[in-house]
Amino acid sequence: MMRVAVFASGNGSNFQAIVNAVKEGRLDVSVELLVCDKPKAYVVERAQAAGVPVLAFRPKEYASREEYERMILAELQARGIELIVLAGYMRIITSVLVEPYYGRMINIHPSLLPSFPGVDAIGQALAHGVKVTGVTVHFVDGGMDSGPIIAQQALDIQVDDSKDTLATRIQEVEHELYVKVIGMISAGRIKLEPDGLRVTVK
Ligand code: GRF
Repeated sequence: MMRVAVFASGNGSNFQAIVNAVKEGRLDVSVELLVCDKPKAYVVERAQAAGVPVLAFRPKEYASREEYERMILAELQARGIELIVLAGYMRIITSVLVEPYYGRMINIHPSLLPSFPGVDAIGQALAHGVKVTGVTVHFVDGGMDSGPIIAQQALDIQVDDSKDTLATRIQEVEHELYVKVIGMISAGRIKLEPDGLRVTVK
């Protein structure tokens, strides 16, 4: 079974969706670790309730991003982690983690990338007046919400959508799409081509 670490910073509804899918037998992976840069985040409570080990840390206690990532990398290697799942982890990842995990680290973003990367993607989409938005799952490179796209799902923006109503629908799509993509990766159905850019799905 593929050994997975989830990285999150806040609420953790995607973490919960993954853990629930595993518990209910809909997803055949083993969630071995939650990595969290905010020790008081709600996702930490979710992990404790689910019996998932937590690696919580305070970035300020480290001299640099690279330094705490080296600490994380050592923990991932000690636990034999094969796939990193970023789920609302609000930090840029450096080459310390990107290099050893390239093609084995994924992120989910609440827009149809490359539109609206960065924070508040849902607000950005509403402010722009686009009529269609969605969710993207992609491999992680060194950029902000960049990297080879694995899967996308579109949804219509309704005229009366507020940020809250749209965010609710987007999160429902996220929970379903992320579980589906993680399942496909663990089944060996998703491959990052040697050029490091294209993703093929079997
Ligand atoms: C999600 O919308 C995800 O796309 C973005 O951060 C949010 C995390 O939500 N990267 P949650 O913490 O999983 O509820």
